[in-house]
Amino acid sequence: MTDTLTAQERDAHLDVEQLKQLVGLVEYDESTDVFPVTGWDAVVFVVGNATQAAHYYQSAWGMELVAYSGPETGNRDHVSFVLRSGSIRFVLQGAVDPDSPLADHHRRHGDGVVDIALEVPDVHRCVEQARTAGATVVQEVQELSDEHGRVLVAAIATYGETRHSLVQRVVDGVRYDGPYLPGHVERTSSYQPRQGQPKRIFQALDHVVGNVELGHMDEWVAFYNRVMGFVNMAEFVGDDIATDYSALMSKVVANGNHRVKFPLNEPAVGKRKSQIDEYLEFYRGAGAQHLAVATNDILASVDALRANGVEFLDTPDSYYEDEELRSRIGEVRVPVEELQKRKILVDRDEDGYLLQIFCKPLGDRPTVFFELIERHGSLGFGKGNFKALFEAIEREQERRGNL
Ligand SMILES: [Fe+2]
Repeated sequence: MTDTLTAQERDAHLDVEQLKQLVGLVEYDESTDVFPVTGWDAVVFVVGNATQAAHYYQSAWGMELVAYSGPETGNRDHVSFVLRSGSIRFVLQGAVDPDSPLADHHRRHGDGVVDIALEVPDVHRCVEQARTAGATVVQEVQELSDEHGRVLVAAIATYGETRHSLVQRVVDGVRYDGPYLPGHVERTSSYQPRQGQPKRIFQALDHVVGNVELGHMDEWVAFYNRVMGFVNMAEFVGDDIATDYSALMSKVVANGNHRVKFPLNEPAVGKRKSQIDEYLEFYRGAGAQHLAVATNDILASVDALRANGVEFLDTPDSYYEDEELRSRIGEVRVPVEELQKRKILVDRDEDGYLLQIFCKPLGDRPTVFFELIERHGSLGFGKGNFKALFEAIEREQERRGNL
């Protein structure tokens, strides 16, 4: 079914060839899938101030406001701003009523991802499968409707207080044609992007990473295998992402066509607190660590984002000057100096290479952030960079006598 685009991909004027390059879409036999997934539906954030966050994600990240729900539309509990970039839908929710459950969620977790919603062709079948496989159904199948039509929605629990809403947008052969979900109205913004900025800074969602507690990674891998029939992709364990000072373990699961990919990290024991431990401490438990968004021109994307004030993790010059790295990455589409200027990382495997960069945390706590990724055949996640980057940082520390 790789030749079938999702409605969001069609709306974004993407085609299958582009998606194969952007997010590594592959062929698979859907007839054996126990939990068919059409693709991503939305990534839902709870934030402290959705009104201002909606402006930030438009002005800094180039997203476009398309829908809204709030007191004016009869929702007295919270506001909900729906933004788009390419085929991705982001929803920003903030409490209006001080007694809203979202206010409690925000106090515990800070700004973060509450729901990684997936579009499915048959929500009843998915919920049945999930329940049989031992998942917690946090919302039974419910029909929502308005003048735009009907949708069926359910939700299952995943790591921490995160859930997967399962959204069926075609009911009895008719696709819901509202701007998001019933209860939301179309909304645009008077915000004008900076002149010369790419029409959109990124095109599609590549993967969403979950950080889970020490010793629980395999449980969650098994959860996605058993409940959703997801397959295991490349896995990096132990030494792959370990230096003397920082360590993490990571495994990756994906749906059959690899549209939806979930790397799962757990901290590994190192000499110092790992970045995963820091996340778990400040998020108060497991949660979504980063969202990797795909672009076909990461140089232009990074330039636009920097011009808009977005800050990225720094990469030391020693990373680019490292002989071992240079010989490992070989030829890429631009001179290494162009990557170095922008602090973009590069990784190569047997299938090709990828370019990637990580931004600083999006909110006040050192928790959720974005990655930009430009794939050239590689279906990996930048495994080579974890060690190279950590070691490069440590070499810098050593040079300063701080290691
Ligand atoms: Fe990533």
